[in-house]
Amino acid sequence: MAGLELELAGIKMKNPVMVASGTFGYGEEASKFVELDKLGAIVTKTITLEPREGNPPPRIVETASGMLNSIGLQNKGIKDFIENRLPFLAKYKTPVIANIAGDSAKEYAELAKMLNKESAVKGIEINISCPNVVKGGMFFCFDPKATAELVRLVRKQTSLPIIVKLSPNITDIAAIAKEAEAAGADAISLINTLLGMAIDTKTRNSRLGSPTGGLSGPAIKPVAVRMVWQAAQAVKIPIIGCGGIMTGKDALEFFLAGASAIQVGTANFVDTQAPIRITEEIKNYLAENKIGCYKELIGKALLT
Ligand code: SIN
Repeated sequence: MAGLELELAGIKMKNPVMVASGTFGYGEEASKFVELDKLGAIVTKTITLEPREGNPPPRIVETASGMLNSIGLQNKGIKDFIENRLPFLAKYKTPVIANIAGDSAKEYAELAKMLNKESAVKGIEINISCPNVVKGGMFFCFDPKATAELVRLVRKQTSLPIIVKLSPNITDIAAIAKEAEAAGADAISLINTLLGMAIDTKTRNSRLGSPTGGLSGPAIKPVAVRMVWQAAQAVKIPIIGCGGIMTGKDALEFFLAGASAIQVGTANFVDTQAPIRITEEIKNYLAENKIGCYKELIGKALLT
């Protein structure tokens, strides 16, 4: 697609609009509604070494300003992914980025080693930002040193591009981003969900099956744009922006803040065509403003 092609961390994409982990499963159900070959990349739901049951229901609730989830990384494990999910995705030209999580750095490294052998996987997204699990997940990204150690261990096990997915639930995004870059990350993606809570005033209990969950949707977009901009000042590796993107205009904000590509997440639950529509809206903006390539916009916010 003219003006939209890119190569990000060595992964060739026809456009910069990916689908975010956890909002598109492993593509098979979504393929009934969305033309997968029109997507920039598919980031899978998080995969762990062993199957996980996830958190008690309800796992998703709607709030006035966005969606709260506490899924707890439910999935059937890496073996099931490789044997039963990946062959479906391998039929498409769209690059597959496998999102992984573990309880320990060793588990992330083991997952990376197994995925390294899979030619259908074009990149690995390390999830160190899930707010809904007790071990691993977000606890790595509270500590820049732990993030660096994890990325280094994973780097040793794979030649695939490594994208580190960062959390907004920290104070210094630049510090984590720099550590990830120095440890060998090829790109970073941000933001995952903001830790939130919703209480039922009748029962006085959490509206979720867990006390807290991750907030996503348009409410978190300004936080995400700010953090992408801060990270872009700190690192040279590409940034993938994510958080509340519903329209092409939202995506453009992320490019201007410094993102080289974006991920569409919660919008997939509202409009199955969201990633395709957003791609069209970006294309139309480029044509209307006589801009040859979207890359001309990256980091070009005119801030005074
Ligand atoms: C979850 O499985 O709880 C959500 C995934 C994430 O936030 O990374």
